Amino acid sequence: MIDGLPDGLTARHPTVEDHPRVLAVLETWWGGLKGEAGALERALLLPRLYFQHFTTTSYVVEHRDGQLAAFLVGFMSQSEPDTAYVHFVGVDPALHGRGIGQALYGAFFELARAHGRRVVRCVTSPENTASQAFHTRLGFTASMPVDDYDGPGLTRVAFTRVLELA
Ligand SMILES: CC(C)(COP(=O)(O)OP(=O)(O)OC[C@H]1O[C@@H](n2cnc3c(N)ncnc32)[C@H](O)[C@@H]1OP(=O)(O)O)[C@@H](O)C(=O)NCCC(=O)NCCS
Repeated sequence: MIDGLPDGLTARHPTVEDHPRVLAVLETWWGGLKGEAGALERALLLPRLYFQHFTTTSYVVEHRDGQLAAFLVGFMSQSEPDTAYVHFVGVDPALHGRGIGQALYGAFFELARAHGRRVVRCVTSPENTASQAFHTRLGFTASMPVDDYDGPGLTRVAFTRVLELA
């Protein structure tokens, strides 16, 4: 389902049973970024609905024993027919730098193309410099930080990536 994953890891689309499993890793995987406020923000970014209604455009990656290794939650925009959107992505810190994030995005780009999408968008917080470096490396263009983008005090950097034709 996903090319380029390290040996021993497999990908599938999530089910609703994956919701608590993903919530349970957010704090460790994000390294407590932005403290308690950051933890609350992240938990609220992933309500159950993503694991009910956006499963066919999302992925979980697991070890052979079923332990969670990575996830990507994304969807095809309903209002912008050209656009696909990556809402949330995370890789177990023990596996960083092994191409898993890139492999997840590669699969999502393919899916987006198959749905006729030409642009992929996502956002991150200005404090998340690792995410900014990763997205820039993957060919995304970053905006300047936009104050109150996601609500009062919730500044975001917005990323855009135009997809090459297959
Ligand atoms: C950002 C994240 C998804 C990257 O996943 P990853 O599997 O480690 O990334 P990859 O190994 O696929 O890296 C792809 C490219 O990005 C670069 N990259 C990844 N993380 C980087 C970092 N922190 N700093 C600089 N470059 C980075 C890699 O060097 C690689 O480039 P290369 O091909 O030239 O070697 C992962 O660090 C993560 O889960 N972070 C915590 C959660 C998070 O911030 N999610 C994103 C915001 S929602």
